[in-house]
Amino acid sequence: MGIGDRFQQETSYRRDDPTQGSAGILSTPDRDGPHHLLPHPDLTNSSSLWEALRNRRSVRSFTGEPISEVELASILWAAQGITDSQGRRAFRTAPSAGALYPVETYVAIQAVTDLTPGIYYYQALEHCLVQLSTGDAAQAAARAALDQQFIAQAAITLFWTAVFERSEVRYKERAYRYVYLDAGHIAQNTALAATAQGLGSCQIGALYDDECNALLGVDGEREAILYMTTIGHPATQGRAS
Ligand SMILES: Cc1cc2nc3c(=O)[nH]c(=O)nc-3n(C[C@H](O)[C@H](O)[C@H](O)COP(=O)(O)O)c2cc1C
Repeated sequence: MGIGDRFQQETSYRRDDPTQGSAGILSTPDRDGPHHLLPHPDLTNSSSLWEALRNRRSVRSFTGEPISEVELASILWAAQGITDSQGRRAFRTAPSAGALYPVETYVAIQAVTDLTPGIYYYQALEHCLVQLSTGDAAQAAARAALDQQFIAQAAITLFWTAVFERSEVRYKERAYRYVYLDAGHIAQNTALAATAQGLGSCQIGALYDDECNALLGVDGEREAILYMTTIGHPATQGRAS
């Protein structure tokens, strides 16, 4: 039996052996660096949900033009923004199993008006960016994504990691199913937010795990890369691969 089949078996719930643990922890990664407060998302100047659903397509050709800071802020808010607080709990735009929010968002900024290119961590609770490094983030993102060169022309590339223990505390091995489901919700929110603003996006699953983890400064065990999305002004419509 391959690891995929074993994973599916060993993470199954069975009526006689429910693997339910205690309540989760709500820690956030402690990332050092200059903080940059983002503008509020623009929730008015965009197309309807139905138009965004109709128009979303994976785009693999970008003009290289910068996106605005409000466009960036709106995309990050759509991905993981806080929409409601109840006591110590903060609920977000995307659902999360047990409201444990194991997924973290990082962004490689190449072309955003008034922002220095580099790698940033999105701190959802404060709706701010923490600058982790500066430099040619687009080339670094393209290299880490199996050298898919079209990524180097994008304005931004989002990286999603999981802090597995946040979900494992409650769901044990089954947590590994849920973190990927969480990431899928976040990625679709992101793609629709890009489309609604006239931008193009492409989800990226073909990536070198170690290179992505090194780029983001995460250890690859406690916290590890799951998924990416690259976004920019579309040049031509991309062909499905
Ligand atoms: C999990 C996942 C991983 C993907 N990885 C890549 C990728 O690494 N490179 C790429 O060009 N497209 C990637 N895609 C985009 C798919 O090729 C695309 O969604 C598919 O061809 C359907 O086209 P559409 O998105 O335009 O509807 C990925 C999509 C998903 C859902």
